[in-house]
Amino acid sequence: MKTDLLITGVAQLVTAEGAEAKRGRAMGSLKILTDAALAVTDGRIAWVGKASDWAGQAAAIVDVRGAAVVPGLIDPHTHAVWAGDRLADFEARTSGATYEQILAAGGGIRSTVRATAAASQDVLVKLARPRIEALMRSGATTIEVKSGYGFSAAAEIAMLEAIAVLAGSVGARILATLLIHIPPVDGTERRGYVEHVCAELIPEVARRGLATAVDVFVEREAWQVSEAEEMFAAAKKNGLAVKLHSDQFHSIGGVELGVRVGALSVDHLEAAGAAQIASVAASGTIATVLPGVSLHLGIPAASGRKLIDAGAAVAVGTDLNPGSSPLFSSAAALALAVRMNGLTAQEALVAGTVNAACALGLGDRGRLEVGCVADFLVLDSGDWRDLVYTMGANVVREVWVGGRRVEA
Ligand code: NIG
Ligand code: FE
Repeated sequence: MKTDLLITGVAQLVTAEGAEAKRGRAMGSLKILTDAALAVTDGRIAWVGKASDWAGQAAAIVDVRGAAVVPGLIDPHTHAVWAGDRLADFEARTSGATYEQILAAGGGIRSTVRATAAASQDVLVKLARPRIEALMRSGATTIEVKSGYGFSAAAEIAMLEAIAVLAGSVGARILATLLIHIPPVDGTERRGYVEHVCAELIPEVARRGLATAVDVFVEREAWQVSEAEEMFAAAKKNGLAVKLHSDQFHSIGGVELGVRVGALSVDHLEAAGAAQIASVAASGTIATVLPGVSLHLGIPAASGRKLIDAGAAVAVGTDLNPGSSPLFSSAAALALAVRMNGLTAQEALVAGTVNAACALGLGDRGRLEVGCVADFLVLDSGDWRDLVYTMGANVVREVWVGGRRVEA
């Protein structure tokens, strides 16, 4: 076999075993190959095995000298594009105000919407780039980025265009999602907005290839199930996948809706009870937990443990955003999921790789298997567990995307 590249000297090569391409694979086990090597051709993995079994030729050889190699992390939920800040919210919350009170009073997400609407595309891109680079340095090789800080179709399109510019100019792979976050102003306008989203915005986003999915925040202070259902019908009609922000503060039927419409994922789940857990566990929808939100807002963490024990496929994301999760490290999200959501170390790596890929509808990554994209991390450790053990330091030494080392 002739390949472009051979990565050798791998103390541990770690990957989730037997993943199904489409549905989450619940939480199966990791396969750990010691004294391993990995070969790459045309940006994809061509061979994986014991270094002593390699009998091919490689145009280039990189010896990682006893490092552990793991799949590139997939961050399936971020709001990395925003302007302004939420430092005043943060201070108010540390003095007792709640996230929902601030939102209901016209602040919170609404203040970020105002600041984002006032920023040019150039400014949005400049602000978002270092955030994405921080996620990359922490190990993220595929990053989902949502719009959602717009009160108008034009503002959502502007955000998606900024995400497209970023996608073309950062080393990580970026996937855009159209997020319909909160209703524009009051009850009278929201009906018209839903109709406009369904009839104009979603078709335009689909036609221009600006997003692969539509996400709706289903919550008392945001959208009702019936409104989300209409927007999801439009999404599907236009060939877009569906995701939800659901059961963050209240369980108002978001999980059940997500399962019913075949959502790729239902995200948050802090307020999900036994019925919601059973519902998602019995479905092909991924349950995405976001420990940064629980840490930052001081709300209960989603029970990753109960979800997994019920049979759900759990993914983990940073939910990087200014209001509820200023968490700029995808690796730290995994480390927090172990402490806060009750995942084991192995489950956390599965959740941040193959299951997170499933949460984005991607079957060709999150695993180090022949045919998958050659997105992997070389750690500053010979033991992969350091990635989910360490907090506050970066264990990722090298980030490789499509068989090329990327700098961020
Ligand atoms: O995922 N819950 C709603 N949306 C975001 C927060 C966005 C914001 O506060 O700016 C979330 O937590
Ligand atoms: Fe979010």
